[in-house]
Amino acid sequence: MSPIFKALVVTERKQKTPLTLADYEEPTLSEGDLLLENVAAAQNPVDAKQLDNDFGIPSIPWVLGGDVAGTVYKVGPGVTKFAVGDRVISFLERKTARHSGYQTYSIAAESRTVKLPEKYSFEAGSTIPLAYITAAAGIADVFGIDLPSPKNPNVPSYAGEPFLVWGGSGSVGAYAVQLAHSLGFTVISTASPANHEYVKSLGAKYVFDYRDADVVSKIRQAAGPNLSKVYDSVSENGSVQASVQSITSPTGGKVAIILGLPTPDPSTSNVKVVATGARKAQEVPAVGEASYWYLAELLNKGTFIPNKVKVIPKGLLGVNEGFDLQRQHKISGEKLVYRIADTPF
Ligand SMILES: NC(=O)c1ccc[n+]([C@@H]2O[C@H](COP(=O)([O-])OP(=O)(O)OC[C@H]3O[C@@H](n4cnc5c(N)ncnc54)[C@H](OP(=O)(O)O)[C@@H]3O)[C@@H](O)[C@H]2O)c1
Repeated sequence: MSPIFKALVVTERKQKTPLTLADYEEPTLSEGDLLLENVAAAQNPVDAKQLDNDFGIPSIPWVLGGDVAGTVYKVGPGVTKFAVGDRVISFLERKTARHSGYQTYSIAAESRTVKLPEKYSFEAGSTIPLAYITAAAGIADVFGIDLPSPKNPNVPSYAGEPFLVWGGSGSVGAYAVQLAHSLGFTVISTASPANHEYVKSLGAKYVFDYRDADVVSKIRQAAGPNLSKVYDSVSENGSVQASVQSITSPTGGKVAIILGLPTPDPSTSNVKVVATGARKAQEVPAVGEASYWYLAELLNKGTFIPNKVKVIPKGLLGVNEGFDLQRQHKISGEKLVYRIADTPF
């Protein structure tokens, strides 16, 4: 069967009408590129934010989406790690419409792609790349943690040390909880009560309701006197300030955040709030290399738990509904996923 090249396209800036499908030509691959036949694409908050706030869209028409799972359809020059037919997940670069996710075939960089073992479905796999890389690169960068890498495959051990993940039921938070747990930290987290057991199943020892007026004192009591590392995967609506107050170590510590620094800066004399994010995987090559390598290790071990999947009907056309669910804050403890084959082409 001949391939279908169809994309869900943005045709005007801050578009209010539903995004629609359009044809495109098979793209040419550059050095280190793969062409992926997408099976599933996952939604991240940034997708609808880019549309609604008009950033990260260099030209119109445009295609959104950073997370895909599928098979390698073609390999470009210089590719060494992948072959046609491999099951993979990729954190797409979104530098052209063809490097984005809401389409049938995407250009993926070899360096940002990881093989997906059979144990994991494409739908589950698609939830991983962007949010996992955000968590891994941020944690490694801000706290100076050497994630396992080809040069040093040993997993560092932080056994006995507390680590707070504010917002463990979100996509990034769920991966941050698992990463911290895998490094031996005693993980403390926050979530709505309906998601407490879920966050514990990811490795958190204590989970508290962030709407509880006493949440900070409960965290401080559970943590003991040695909490110096907080990863705030929410980074808004007071979470940064509460994260700063949660630090108990007499020598202070750091709060990693993944949105812009609030004004005024909530840092104190010994607690530093540091803005980080997925970009650190590119800005600090050693951090990026270790983050992807460790993901492949965790997937191969089979212990890594992808986000809970909610498949939205109508494939790529379902993205319009998914963006509305995000705008209405109706996404809790699960990630929206689109099956390409469900699209009524
Ligand atoms: N800088 C970067 O590179 C980067 C990368 C990825 C994401 N981000 C940003 O990071 C944020 C999270 O992304 P995501 O993909 O993890 O989103 P998400 O999965 O949609 O997050 C939804 C979760 O957030 C939780 N939540 C909302 N407000 C909370 C609060 N005040 N305290 C604790 N939990 C709260 C909810 O928990 P309950 O349902 O349990 O209440 C919900 O499960 C977004 O703003 C996104 O744009 C930045």
